[in-house]
Amino acid sequence: MSEQGYFGEFGGSFIPEILVATFEELIAAYEEARADPAFWKTYVDLMGNYSCRPTPLTEAVNLTRHFGGARIFIKREDLNHTGAHKANNVMGQGLLIQRMGKKRVIAETGAGQHGVATATMAAKFGLECTIYMGEVDVARQRPNVFWMERMGATVVPVTEGSRTLKDAINEAFRDWVTRMDDTHYALGTACGPHPFPEMVSWFQSLIGEEARRQVLEQAGCLPSRVYACVGGGSNAMGIFGGFFEDDVELVGVEAGGAGLDSKAHASRLASSDATLGVAQGYKTYFLQNPDGQMNETHSVAAGLDYVGVSPILAHLSQTGRVRFEAATDEEVVDALSLTMQKEGLIPALESSHAFVQAFKEAPLMSPDEVIVINQSGRGDKDIFTIADAFGDPEWEAFIQKKAKEYDAR
Ligand SMILES: Cc1ncc(COP(=O)(O)O)c(C=O)c1O
Repeated sequence: MSEQGYFGEFGGSFIPEILVATFEELIAAYEEARADPAFWKTYVDLMGNYSCRPTPLTEAVNLTRHFGGARIFIKREDLNHTGAHKANNVMGQGLLIQRMGKKRVIAETGAGQHGVATATMAAKFGLECTIYMGEVDVARQRPNVFWMERMGATVVPVTEGSRTLKDAINEAFRDWVTRMDDTHYALGTACGPHPFPEMVSWFQSLIGEEARRQVLEQAGCLPSRVYACVGGGSNAMGIFGGFFEDDVELVGVEAGGAGLDSKAHASRLASSDATLGVAQGYKTYFLQNPDGQMNETHSVAAGLDYVGVSPILAHLSQTGRVRFEAATDEEVVDALSLTMQKEGLIPALESSHAFVQAFKEAPLMSPDEVIVINQSGRGDKDIFTIADAFGDPEWEAFIQKKAKEYDAR
């Protein structure tokens, strides 16, 4: 990485003049923390004590038997407090906020996992908290909105644009410009202006460090391949980071939605639909029209339908270090169903994208080989979307009964 936060031709910092001093303050706090081993120790202790780290690496014996190929191991980020890897990043940023002496935190959220994690961190550290969330996501992730509000956060539904994650990010930046002195913007993924891509990846690097150690202990060898889903790219950067120096193939799986031919997807690196551009403060591949207006995206998983992608992953795609694939909504529901039935695990719809690709490749590999899938989060939060996707008639009857009860009140 160069000093301006570039990864090859991607990244950088394209911010309004008014935010320059705030970013300088953040970069200084981050660099000091990174150079201070006591900071990392405090962080690791906090995550051990508050968020169940190290998360286990579970051998999926039944899935392995089912496919008859490579041994399948699953890194259990779903066991973090609040149910996803998002907790790693926000707790790290929470410690930075304390170092900078700020009193308020804002965040954007798509699936709501980052919002819940930020609201949790704000409650724990005694910070005022506002979460921006696209109106569409508020509607499909109501349980997460409920928890954010119960923990004392104000959730602001964003009604502009496609009313999803990218619009929530724009709104969060607008807020930050008006209250820089006391507010930190806890960006939720490895995107945005420098230092966010690098800093978020650093906090998430715990995943890969643990996974590497665990797979060596449990399988006695390094994996041939590691799979992670890719929204903005933070869980992928986290797990891949443990294996960059190894002869391990890294596979990022994006949202293929209704199929790559349909345009109703959110695949930036596995499709040829995205083009290089500058938006939301950084340079990367965006799903945009020739005028630079962002396209509408689609995924069954609210956390994967973002128009941009981590500049670090864009670079690693260009250099060939990470291979990118896409999984369709339909394939995701099938992989989730199989994982529940064979292992009793409930990966989030986002995470299930990684499972799709792993399931395509595991049967073609030798039983001597090992693969690791990052289960970035748990699927219980997706019960409404999952139940719809499964078309479960009893669930539908239950929801209708509940709706009637509410109407009768
Ligand atoms: C469980 C889960 N996995 C993955 C993602 C995608 O984000 P990222 O690519 O930053 O890991 C999200 C986003 O909300 C999520 O909730």
